[in-house]
Amino acid sequence: MRPIIAPSVLAADFANLQSEVEMLNKSQADWLHIDIMDGRFVPNISFGFPVLEAIQRHAQKPLDVHLMIESPELYIEQFRKSGAENITVHYEACVHLHRIIEQIKATGAKAGVALNPHTSVALLEDVIADLDLVCVMSVNPGFGGQKFIENTYNRIEALKELILSRNSKALIEIDGGVNQKNAPLLLERGADVLVAGSFVFSAADPAQTIAALKSTLKD
Ligand code: DX5
Ligand code: ZN
Repeated sequence: MRPIIAPSVLAADFANLQSEVEMLNKSQADWLHIDIMDGRFVPNISFGFPVLEAIQRHAQKPLDVHLMIESPELYIEQFRKSGAENITVHYEACVHLHRIIEQIKATGAKAGVALNPHTSVALLEDVIADLDLVCVMSVNPGFGGQKFIENTYNRIEALKELILSRNSKALIEIDGGVNQKNAPLLLERGADVLVAGSFVFSAADPAQTIAALKSTLKD
């Protein structure tokens, strides 16, 4: 199985967003990964609804929206209306996680939960069967271009075991510091979706870099 490739628009040229999205449309990207940061849950602010809606107007692929925000339950319906196909909330930001998963599904979106690098995957035991996606953060969220955390490999293995033991259909998404070197190892351990920001957009030929990631084989 080929991995699902989700380039992170955070690393795109915001002054030329339309042409960046058109490049992604023509590329082998499967999803567009959209990072929403509120300056509270993470120490950075990215962009909000007007920009997301501008992306949606041009995107021909599903929008994979990663909410790095406090109180995400206040905005789920609006993200869905703004074009989110997948809505992922952070475990650490949700007191009533089960309720929020139900809320996401009620909008018709796919429901995801993201885990910070310190959050044990075992904490998802009682919701894993309800999830469409688990985003394993391989950096501390908030910024693109950070160094990949090696312990991620162990976490993918543990999560894969949990998914199989609960008959869950959740996809395993890896977010942060993904590149051509770690991609085969990530797939080997059980990753299904690779998010890549700076590796794709700082390349001389982003579409070609996406194609190379897409054709990554397990080690
Ligand atoms: C980090 C974001 C990531 C980021 C990945 O908080 O969630 O999606 O854009 O960027 P790279 O691939 O540059 O680490
Ligand atoms: Zn992200």
